[in-house]
Amino acid sequence: MLNEKISFEHWLKADVQDSMEGFLKEILPSNQEFPNELHEAMRYAVLGGGKRVRAALVLATGLAVHRNELNSSLLKALQYAAAAVELIHAYSLVHDDMPCMDDDKLRRGKPTVHVKYGEAQALLVGDALQTSAFEQLVKMPVAPALVVQAVRLLATASGSMGMAGGQSLDLKYVNQSLELEQLQQMHRLKTGALIEGSVMLGAVACGANYEDRQALETFGSVLGLAYQVVDDVLDQVQDTEKLGKTAGKDAQHNKPNYVSVMGLEQAQNFAKELHELALDTIIHFGPRANRLRGIAEFVLKRSN
Ligand code: IPE
Ligand code: IPE
Ligand code: MG
Ligand code: MG
Ligand code: MG
Repeated sequence: MLNEKISFEHWLKADVQDSMEGFLKEILPSNQEFPNELHEAMRYAVLGGGKRVRAALVLATGLAVHRNELNSSLLKALQYAAAAVELIHAYSLVHDDMPCMDDDKLRRGKPTVHVKYGEAQALLVGDALQTSAFEQLVKMPVAPALVVQAVRLLATASGSMGMAGGQSLDLKYVNQSLELEQLQQMHRLKTGALIEGSVMLGAVACGANYEDRQALETFGSVLGLAYQVVDDVLDQVQDTEKLGKTAGKDAQHNKPNYVSVMGLEQAQNFAKELHELALDTIIHFGPRANRLRGIAEFVLKRSN
């Protein structure tokens, strides 16, 4: 994690994906713990898949703020924050896939949680993962004032003014033709808020100064929008096997997205523009933000 010479791909695999898998395995209650079925379903929802982009953002922001010098307690704080945001994200996917929302049968290449464990358990998995996320934040070994800021930040990013609000708009807008402004607002909320929140959690956990926080907030906001624009493009151009989730769902459900509103090529160009814009916002960080730049490129070029 501290060695800049390690390639981005290696860092993402070893220091984020593998390391977070181990950390999440530790903090989630075991399958042997009562009530076993709920714990098994929670572990199924969280472990063994996912790109862990949000965790990567938390950790990379920590590296950017601290000039790549993280002591062990800061690293632990970042890991708890990264786990918290991945738990909220996993809960949002479990609920997003339910029949009352997107009605999806495949997620991360596996049957969705409600398909495997039933709808009622899926609902409860989401509830329990959400509260567990806040429990993880409270374990961060940082000043209590920073913990309080982090709790507020994650609550806002995932609540009615963030992810949940965006998901509500997503359902409301089915079969409607939208203005770009409405589409942008929906995307900023349903996906952007948690991406921006991941960056800001990294900043808060590390006690970043005001100037850094301002720049990082803009970076997270622009990257968050780019993230969902690319998701919309992939929904159209990628196959189900590579995606690990059913391709073509948005068109099938008549959901307005960047491809349906702008056209495919325009949406791809818009994602590239947002990528450039995101890079501009963190110029003053210099090389210490290289992991963040790596993530921005990964977001643009990903295939699933
Ligand atoms: C999918 O998120 C849903 C969106 C918010 C776009 P990811 O593409 O980050 O999904 P995983 O975590 O890698 O499976
Ligand atoms: C999901 O958007 C946003 C969430 C908050 C989960 P999508 O519905 O497009 O995500 P996928 O395509 O199912 O992963
Ligand atoms: Mg959805
Ligand atoms: Mg969906
Ligand atoms: Mg999608």
